Amino acid sequence: SWTTGNVIEEQVSRIRAQVGEGAAICALSGGVDSAVAAALVQRAIGDRLTCVYVNHGLMRQDESEQIEKAFGESTGGAKLIMVDAEEQFLTALAGVTDPEQKRKIIGHEFIRSFESAQEDILRERGVIEGDHAEAKAFLVQGTLYPDVVESGGGEGAANIKSHHNVGGLPEDLSFELVEPLRALFKDEVRAVGSELGLPDEIVWRQPFPGPGLGIRIIGEVTKERLDILRHADAIARAELTAAGLDRDIWQCPVVLLAEVRSVGVQGDGRTYGHPVVLRPVTSDDAMTADWAKVPYDVLSRISTRITNEVREINRVTLDITSKPPGTIEWE
Ligand code: XMP
Repeated sequence: SWTTGNVIEEQVSRIRAQVGEGAAICALSGGVDSAVAAALVQRAIGDRLTCVYVNHGLMRQDESEQIEKAFGESTGGAKLIMVDAEEQFLTALAGVTDPEQKRKIIGHEFIRSFESAQEDILRERGVIEGDHAEAKAFLVQGTLYPDVVESGGGEGAANIKSHHNVGGLPEDLSFELVEPLRALFKDEVRAVGSELGLPDEIVWRQPFPGPGLGIRIIGEVTKERLDILRHADAIARAELTAAGLDRDIWQCPVVLLAEVRSVGVQGDGRTYGHPVVLRPVTSDDAMTADWAKVPYDVLSRISTRITNEVREINRVTLDITSKPPGTIEWE
């Protein structure tokens, strides 16, 4: 019968059989799937797993630190390499306003950062030019059952596509995928994550897009704008959490309209600041969504606090569009 304990036991022995004496690498995104996949592999092969987290500078306030801490605590100190690539990403994004262009650039820079980290790890492990040069390298992915079905039973669509990962590496080094969640649905992954001791903040983390705040700034992405948005977003999240709404709401993007200004009066003077948009939605699978009926008093606290505490923002607006026709994110 299906129990989380059985799933864990079975996957751990399968991973051991598959990986043998090889080394494995996992890109962590901060989301539940990659975290649970990594925790299973870590349980199976210990420190022959190395996780890589690429900080693209587009994360929310304190988020990278929280991910690092939560991951370390919950996996008993699995090896985690934090790659600080903020400058690289912001340089690549300079002057870009088109949403698809932003996504492409962010995806491309991500793969570049991950590949260079991965090459360092494999060299250090002797998989390239070393004593174990014949040893295989494995790539861990948090592919779920719905990903397998959607991609026609082929390789998972989750995380980054496998063929991208091997691009910059020596040709004779072939990766084999380790996908311990291939038979599971999201709720089962959460159950396995809890059983493995991952903290609630990872197990119940709301969806957050790979391109991060880069697609929540309408206009060019700059460090200054990111800091403004991070501040406003942190206030909205804190108030939604305080109101106990985290599990009722699918997610609540906060969007900075960086190229729109409006006149306001704040303190004792005229201001000419930017609006932010609150986009709270309810959903089952993100394919369709409805705007969430957040209580007025919660909205009111968010608005008052943002306009009081974030100098550059003088208007808070609410997006009341369902999906379709609007998507959840604005870009
Ligand atoms: P949309 O905006 O298409 O978003 O209604 C649906 C869900 O997907 C998330 N999203 C992304 N996640 N990479 C991701 O990993 C992306 O490029 C991306 N774009 C949107 C979004 O936050 C929502 O949960």
